[in-house]
Amino acid sequence: MTLWSGGRFADDPAEELWSFTVDHSDRRMLGDDVAGSIAHASMLGRAGLLTADETSAMVAGLDQIAIEASDGSFNFLDSDEDVHSSVERRLGEIIGDLAGKLHTGRSRNDQVALDLRLYLKRAAATRIIQLESFVQVLVDQAEAVGDAVVPSYTHLQQAQAVPFAHHLLAHAWMLVRDAARFTDAVGRIDVSPLGAGASGGSSLSLDPAASAENLGMAKVFDNSMDAVASRDFVAEFVWCSAQSMVHLSRLSEELILWCSSEFGWVTFSDAFTTGSSAMPQKKNPDIAELVRGKSAAVIGDLTAIVTLQKGLPLTYNRDLQEDKRLVFHADDTLAGSLAALSGMIATASFHAPSPDVWVTALDLAEVLVGRGIPFRTAHHIVGGLVADLVAHGRTFDNVTSEELIACHEVFKPEDINCLDPAVSVAARVTRGGGSMESVATQIVALRSRV
Ligand code: ARG
Repeated sequence: MTLWSGGRFADDPAEELWSFTVDHSDRRMLGDDVAGSIAHASMLGRAGLLTADETSAMVAGLDQIAIEASDGSFNFLDSDEDVHSSVERRLGEIIGDLAGKLHTGRSRNDQVALDLRLYLKRAAATRIIQLESFVQVLVDQAEAVGDAVVPSYTHLQQAQAVPFAHHLLAHAWMLVRDAARFTDAVGRIDVSPLGAGASGGSSLSLDPAASAENLGMAKVFDNSMDAVASRDFVAEFVWCSAQSMVHLSRLSEELILWCSSEFGWVTFSDAFTTGSSAMPQKKNPDIAELVRGKSAAVIGDLTAIVTLQKGLPLTYNRDLQEDKRLVFHADDTLAGSLAALSGMIATASFHAPSPDVWVTALDLAEVLVGRGIPFRTAHHIVGGLVADLVAHGRTFDNVTSEELIACHEVFKPEDINCLDPAVSVAARVTRGGGSMESVATQIVALRSRV
């Protein structure tokens, strides 16, 4: 049913209109729509716009719909224009003509904004929990790798020696910020638009603050036009999702590299990898590849939701119906990616390869700096040694103390010990740097946050 046929419309909707304009993706907001309607009916009762009997009959009917929504027995009809129409139609089936009073002082414009805010507030809470448990998985794996040392990379070239745990925790910090971004977004999502009506409020003595309080929402709208026209809260949710997906995509890319025989940094459990139909030896990291691939469409959702708002005159326009598909797609993708990828990491075993000894070159230069040589000169001296060794097909592995001292007289014989990635890590002293002390501090900090 539509909430507007009859009246000024003599004809039924054309098939083309119906199939083009009706979008059933809002059905997942059924529970939120009913909750919003219960709050609205209660407010109407307190404002004297419904009698006590009418209020209790209406709330009882809505309570029944809430049960149908949660046990899955609610029956949507193809002829319902949207979820709001479905609820009002069903309420009429239960309580009769009294259902016609539910929409008093309300429009689908404030109603749909409310439903989406309620839905996204709950979705954000779930995503925060998932992100935090993902962080725990990374912290557990960081503990499991112990003091294993790997090269850090810049430009995908081996750079410095770091604890493997330090690398895993770098990803954990990104996800901590993603969770914090969702928390911040909830501060702007958790605002009730109910009472804004179609766009200008109402001549009836509604009490928007009472509805908001009933719904457990933190704030009430300040401007009815803003309340029904704005979707920056949706865009912000999609941005939080897109940034999280991009973080998961970067992590996925590394996992894909790491499980190659060239890297050999990780072995995934059979349960979280796939096989090849042709090559019997293959074990493929499809979850990570799909997370990386699916992040593309969530970036697309972000572009679409931002663009959707551009050029819309105030207030509500039907264009805004498109927001739901985008945000639901972004949220579903993130939810699925978090579940699959965290399972893949939780069941993986990480093992450290030896970095090239070249990763200690900066440590050697810092030895010279510690003896008063300007860094630029030290860089030049060590660079010269590297060039000489490379020219002779050698590495830091077998350089001698004599060769070191021949390079510069301030070198001491024991400096040869610096040419060891484990020593490099042990010498690291900076806060947040790649040392085992820093890893221990980070693990305590991360555990206390999640
Ligand atoms: N399905 C619509 C949406 O998602 C609900 C609001 C319709 N409002 C209206 N005035 N036609 O935006």
